[in-house]
Amino acid sequence: AIARLEIHTEIDSTNRYLMREAATGAPGGTLCLAECQTAGRGRLGRAWISPFGANLYLSMLWRYAAPPVALGGFSLVAGAVVADVLRRIGAEGLALKWPNDLLWDRRKLGGMLLEVAGEAKGPSALVVGIGINVRMTADHGRVIDQPWVDLTDVLGGSRVDRNTLAALIVDALIDAFERFGREGLTPYLALWAEFDAFRGEQARILLADREIRGRVLGIASDGALRLDTADGERRFHAGEVSLRRE
Ligand code: BTN
Repeated sequence: AIARLEIHTEIDSTNRYLMREAATGAPGGTLCLAECQTAGRGRLGRAWISPFGANLYLSMLWRYAAPPVALGGFSLVAGAVVADVLRRIGAEGLALKWPNDLLWDRRKLGGMLLEVAGEAKGPSALVVGIGINVRMTADHGRVIDQPWVDLTDVLGGSRVDRNTLAALIVDALIDAFERFGREGLTPYLALWAEFDAFRGEQARILLADREIRGRVLGIASDGALRLDTADGERRFHAGEVSLRRE
């Protein structure tokens, strides 16, 4: 359930805020939304462009007494859940790029940022951040350093009610937190595969100091990316790794 709901006009980052709150004992089920972020964060230290009033910036804190598996796998669950919600409201052709990009026509529609809070205070805490471009302004779009799209475009110009969208996502997210807590990633692998942008494709994995080429086989039950390489199957965990199309 939602334990606490905070809606901020402006915040540095909804994720960073909930990580701070987690450290001072905020309850699991704390939900934070903002109209804009002054220091929105993406994966691998990238910035997430977060202009006022048109997109969705949402983070939720969840606590597990005893997580069944590594919490990092929830990033894939969050992606599958968000893609599924958007498909239900009519978005066709969505794709997920491991580990956490939501794409349409190879352009970025949204992303998930998962952070695990320190274990010192109480049971382990997870902060899941979701950013969706709902109606990006052209001015802000110009500074995004990769191809992007917004949900209004994906839906052929029809307006999306952000409150409804947020409610659908939060509902689905709460179910997923609970189910993930009982069963781990396994129940979500098939859904993720329905959106897998790279399955069967030749790709490169960029490590800190080299690249590894191969064909993407899909996702393992611990969330690792499975790549069929010249040396046989190899698995990669999200950490500091990027996936590129060949
Ligand atoms: C990525 O694709 O790299 C992840 C982007 C995640 C952006 C969201 S917006 C709400 C939450 N707060 C943040 O600072 N980041 C996430």
